[in-house]
Amino acid sequence: MKILSIETSCDETGASVVEKKDNEKFVRVLSNVTATSSKLHAKTGGIIPEFAAREQIKAIIPVIVETLVESKNNHAAMQPCNHSFKTKKTELDFEDKFKLANTILKDHIDAIAVTNGPGLIGSLLVGVETAKTLSFAFKKPLIPVHHLLAHIYANFIRDNSSIINHKSSIQFPFIGLIVSGGHTDLLLFESVSKFKWLGGTRDDAAGEALDKIGRLLGLSYPAGPEIERRAAKIQKPTANSHPFDKLRASLPTAKFQSPLINSKDFDFSFSGLKTEVARFISKKHLTDRLINEICYALQEAIFAVLIKKTVRAAKLYNINKIALGGGVSANQTLRKQFQESVISNKLQVQIISPAKEFATDNAAMIGAYALLNYKPIDWHKINALPDLYFS
Ligand code: KG4
Ligand code: ZN
Repeated sequence: MKILSIETSCDETGASVVEKKDNEKFVRVLSNVTATSSKLHAKTGGIIPEFAAREQIKAIIPVIVETLVESKNNHAAMQPCNHSFKTKKTELDFEDKFKLANTILKDHIDAIAVTNGPGLIGSLLVGVETAKTLSFAFKKPLIPVHHLLAHIYANFIRDNSSIINHKSSIQFPFIGLIVSGGHTDLLLFESVSKFKWLGGTRDDAAGEALDKIGRLLGLSYPAGPEIERRAAKIQKPTANSHPFDKLRASLPTAKFQSPLINSKDFDFSFSGLKTEVARFISKKHLTDRLINEICYALQEAIFAVLIKKTVRAAKLYNINKIALGGGVSANQTLRKQFQESVISNKLQVQIISPAKEFATDNAAMIGAYALLNYKPIDWHKINALPDLYFS
């Protein structure tokens, strides 16, 4: 079965064609196109919902056309297209592409999937109303998809890197940690149709904390990737390090508390970190080196609690797989520290995470969820649900 999937919950406009064969438990990506308006939001240091939706209205049809045309070549196109739709592979002008996309949708696509929540209402409406129109016009079944669950289902995508790295595929049951710009949630996935919410953030999400603190530090938006790059420049000494490095590391530097790290629940809280960092930098002259130190300490504080509670959930429920998802899970240090934690706890727990391009918002994960959870609904009954959560 082949699905055209659409994702517009935040500032990205994504469309993808994904496929699953009946006997397979994983999903292949035939094309994946994402247009982002992040440069616009970088100017304001955050997303202005109205601006995001206006850009999405302009981008949605070209992105869908592009992904349908790319899918014909049967290979994933993973570069963000940034509203420029000239590709080297196809010399067609937009008129020809439009006609070709029309034929592909009519003859080769079995169903349409769309994110219906949670997210920004204006952005969601762009995707949902477009999907409903296509479903009606092309007589295709329509599947509404929960954006947060889809972040975890990104782990069912088998791309070239997982084949090359022999990354083992995910199987139920597993613990899922969603760490994105808007959410931080811990869930137990028992089967495709059964999951249990274990806990989540009481205030800011992990990515939101990174972005807000990044703004205090004058970093680019979204700040997660730059914080990762800067933190990686800080080399903490090991037992074998040169004495000079040990001495330098002993000098006072940034260190922040890991919020709720010792609480017995599975909740998180990251809003206090912003105040802590603001207080810390108010007395300091911000050098490049100090910003790197703060990025390092910030990651340490956030990742420690994410890892501790997720690993504890796996132990408590006797689960041997942990699946990560959401933009923050693109962070290599987080992935590495998760691995180190299971090793140091002598646990036989496997950590699974999506390829980087499927960790941040993308339409392929929406299609992956719909293929594994195929539940079409009459298009009249599908609405954008900005506050959709876990019920
Ligand atoms: O999942 P996502 O693309 O969108 C939401 O659903 O929110 O997540 C975006 C978040 C942003 O807060 C961004 O700063 C963070 O993911 N992020 C990262 C990295 N890449 C994106 N955080 C840490 N390290 C990264 N490499
Ligand atoms: Zn997301």
